[in-house]
Amino acid sequence: MLDMTTNFDLAPLHAILEEYGSQKGTVIPILQRVQDAYGYLPKEILAEISKRTNIPLTQLMGVATFYTQFRLSPRGKHLIRVCDGTACHVSGAPHIVRAIEKEYDMPAGSSSPDLKYTLEVVYCVGACGLAPVVIVDDKVYGRLSPDAVLEKVRDV
Ligand code: FES
Repeated sequence: MLDMTTNFDLAPLHAILEEYGSQKGTVIPILQRVQDAYGYLPKEILAEISKRTNIPLTQLMGVATFYTQFRLSPRGKHLIRVCDGTACHVSGAPHIVRAIEKEYDMPAGSSSPDLKYTLEVVYCVGACGLAPVVIVDDKVYGRLSPDAVLEKVRDV
């Protein structure tokens, strides 16, 4: 059932918090489970965790922003990862990132307003020979111009 103050169904959250009780050192597993349940870590949910566990919200935010596995905004249907490791960087990865950011109005690390795409910048995916490398969902593309990448993204 939707909670009127948060606009989220809090039942999954309460089940997770009940499971962990007041054990110490459980911030990361709690956040992992919450992210699995909600797809990301909404700030309203983090506030609710803080209220129920007495873990300061600043501490939860600190953990959520420190570890790259955590997302503070919803993920789009398609994940675009642009490698900006050294080989990809010198082969033009920043131009690809900028082209995607501009085309879909989504700064790296965020999602397009229609939640069709999420853009992530990653560092060396082990395919330097194909630099610059872009991975769209599970398809790997190499040596493409920014325009060619936009075409692949448009076609997913
Ligand atoms: S730097 Fe991009 S694949 Fe290695």
